Amino acid sequence: MFKGLFQNTKNNSTKIVNIEDLNPFNIPKHVAIIMDGNGRWAKGKGLPRIAGHRAGMEAIKRVAKAANKVGVEIVTLFAFSTENWKRPENEVNFLMGLPQEFLLKEIDELNEQNVQVKIMGFDENLPEHTIKAVREAERRTEKNTGLILNFALNYGSRHEIVHATKSIVHDVLEGKITEQQIDERLLGQYLLTKNYPDPDLLIRTSGELRLSNFLLWQMAYTELYFTSAFWPEFNEQHFIEAIYDYQQRGRRFGAI
Ligand code: IPE
Ligand code: IPE
Ligand code: MG
Repeated sequence: MFKGLFQNTKNNSTKIVNIEDLNPFNIPKHVAIIMDGNGRWAKGKGLPRIAGHRAGMEAIKRVAKAANKVGVEIVTLFAFSTENWKRPENEVNFLMGLPQEFLLKEIDELNEQNVQVKIMGFDENLPEHTIKAVREAERRTEKNTGLILNFALNYGSRHEIVHATKSIVHDVLEGKITEQQIDERLLGQYLLTKNYPDPDLLIRTSGELRLSNFLLWQMAYTELYFTSAFWPEFNEQHFIEAIYDYQQRGRRFGAI
């Protein structure tokens, strides 16, 4: 199990990484993932893009299991961005049906694994059936105490920051807070991530080296990990390799 070739990003040496190689005292609490490459994966197999999105759901299951196993507490998955509305209507419609398909099918197993499903994003523009499905999944897993599986759905970091700014101005004008109280901690409380610590590790699949408007404020000091694997290929071994790589980093947060 877990055997694979590990490419050390620091010295290019290769090493086989197993789950036992992970330092149990340095597991990232919060892992954010940009699940990218579904379309290219499908294209490479001569399939329509939506087949890639469907295959990507299996990768979510694998990652939830692996995260539970190694002791990650929160996984935030970028499922649909505020910019993804620019895609063709048939693809958008398909993506809007996936939460329902995934959550209905997997809810029992997620409950068995004690997973708490959470949704983070803006309801505006989301179809009613999508909102209903995700709220239902949240409700049906809210008593669980294990891994938080947090889906960023219709999420965009700039939109989030604009929204937070407006809410802060509103609360100042209403006299609920004063200008003097505005600091980094307070702003953080107006973001959709207010209940979570900042991500320790970001994983982006498919070889793209950018953030695509994901958690810009929250990832000021997040360790970044990029892999060329397409999201539908991503498995437990890839996840362990990412965590192993994270554990080789020296996090300084500006200090020495
Ligand atoms: C990620 O895969 C899923 C979403 C953005 C919804 P893509 O659909 O972006 O796949 P590529 O990047 O075009 O291959
Ligand atoms: C980021 O992937 C959004 C999600 C994974 C949901 P995109 O495929 O939309 O990002 P770009 O367009 O390549 O930057
Ligand atoms: Mg993409």
